[in-house]
Amino acid sequence: MADLRFRPATRADDPFFREMEFQTTWDSLDLEEREALGAETVREALDLTHELLLNRPGNRIVIAENEADERVGLLWFGVNRNLITGEEEAWVYNVSVVPAFRSLGIGTRLMEHAESLARGGGFHTLGLMVSSHNAGAQRLYERLAFRSTNLVMRKRL
Ligand SMILES: CC(C)(COP(=O)(O)OP(=O)(O)OC[C@H]1O[C@@H](n2cnc3c(N)ncnc32)[C@H](O)[C@@H]1OP(=O)(O)O)[C@@H](O)C(=O)NCCC(=O)NCCS
Repeated sequence: MADLRFRPATRADDPFFREMEFQTTWDSLDLEEREALGAETVREALDLTHELLLNRPGNRIVIAENEADERVGLLWFGVNRNLITGEEEAWVYNVSVVPAFRSLGIGTRLMEHAESLARGGGFHTLGLMVSSHNAGAQRLYERLAFRSTNLVMRKRL
């Protein structure tokens, strides 16, 4: 997509941000987890997560808009403390593109933007977490030279 603009999110973007966050989270859950939790619980949990994480320093929420001023994508960039190394690292908390605008290169552009924010902030690492069944997102990250470093394992009890 040629004419793509990035701008910082404002209060007016809150509903868009929350909806994109919900969709990404919901898509990351497997069927069993969706049934066990339900959409309302996931929305409430996300609101709390936002309250906790967005109050930390270093967050940048970036909205991608097309030439028709439509919101087409979102990047939530921030800082994360690596629990193993103790290092403060740049982190992509979410990158998502409105379904109708996928496969046009917007996700790639948003990730390149995240990388330039990370470099500009003097970070040595850019990390993210991706659901193991999100093959599309994993392909995007691998194409951009991200490599898997840890694997989270869970057993439902
Ligand atoms: C993952 C996600 C952000 C990718 O966004 P996107 O805008 O579709 O990404 P891109 O267009 O840059 O790349 C996706 C595909 O389009 C292809 N593509 C990129 N530019 C293209 C172009 N100009 N023309 C045709 N195809 C193109 C890429 O090769 C890639 O193909 P592949 O997936 O088969 O390897 C998007 O699918 C999404 O929002 N998913 C839901 C949210 C999510 O899961 N986010 C990740 C959270 S960790």
